[in-house]
Amino acid sequence: MKFPYNEKVLEHFRNPRNVGSIENSDGKSTEGSPACGDMVSVYIKVDKGTKKIEDIKFESYGCASNIATGSIITELAKGKTLEEAKKIDWKEASDALGGLPKIKTHCSVLAVDGLRAAIANYEEKHGLIKERVPTTKEIVLKRLRHVMNPLAGLDLVRTNLIDNVKVENGTIDVSVSLPEDHQFATNIREEILEKLENLWDVDKVVVRFTV
Ligand code: FES
Repeated sequence: MKFPYNEKVLEHFRNPRNVGSIENSDGKSTEGSPACGDMVSVYIKVDKGTKKIEDIKFESYGCASNIATGSIITELAKGKTLEEAKKIDWKEASDALGGLPKIKTHCSVLAVDGLRAAIANYEEKHGLIKERVPTTKEIVLKRLRHVMNPLAGLDLVRTNLIDNVKVENGTIDVSVSLPEDHQFATNIREEILEKLENLWDVDKVVVRFTV
C-alpha cells in the first residue's frame, strides 16, 4: 500500500516521542480542530527560573499527521524557553517532518495550537500575561469554542449547548443546556473551569446545567 506520507512522518507516527500526560503539569491544554473535530492535549513542565520547557508530553485523538506533528513539536519545544517555543509554527513542524500533504495542514496547526495554548495556560496561571484585555462575553465564547461536546465531537458553542454567558464584576456565569446528572456534565464543567478560571480579571466561574 502506498502511503501519502514520507518515511519520517511514518516513523514519528509509529514511534511517537513524548506521548502521555504529566501529573502536576505547570501548563496544559486541550485543543480541537474546527476542520476535522479531532483533539490534542499538551502538558508542559517549566523551570521557574529559566522559563525553559523541561518536560513536555502530548496525547492525540487525531490522525497520523497529528500524531507525527505532536511528536515533532514536543521534540522541538523541549529545552526551549517559552518565548522561543511560542515561535514554533506549523510550517516549522511540517518542515522538520520533511513535509506533510497540503490537505493535512490543519493537523499540524492543531498540534501547534495545543503547544501555544499550554504555554498560554502557564502564563495565565503565573500572572505573566502582558496584554491585559478585559474579559468580555465574546472572549468567553471564543474559549468555549475550545471545549468539546463529547456527544458530537464538536465544540459546545457550535453544538448549541451554551444557553447563556454573563460576565459581571469578576464573575463568569455559564449556562449549559444539559442536565446536571448527564454523563459528561462533570467533565464539561472541569473543562470550562480550566479554560476560564485563569483569566487575569476573573475571580469566580459558575457553571450551571439548565435542563
Ligand atoms: Fe483531524 Fe488530522 S484529520 S487531526
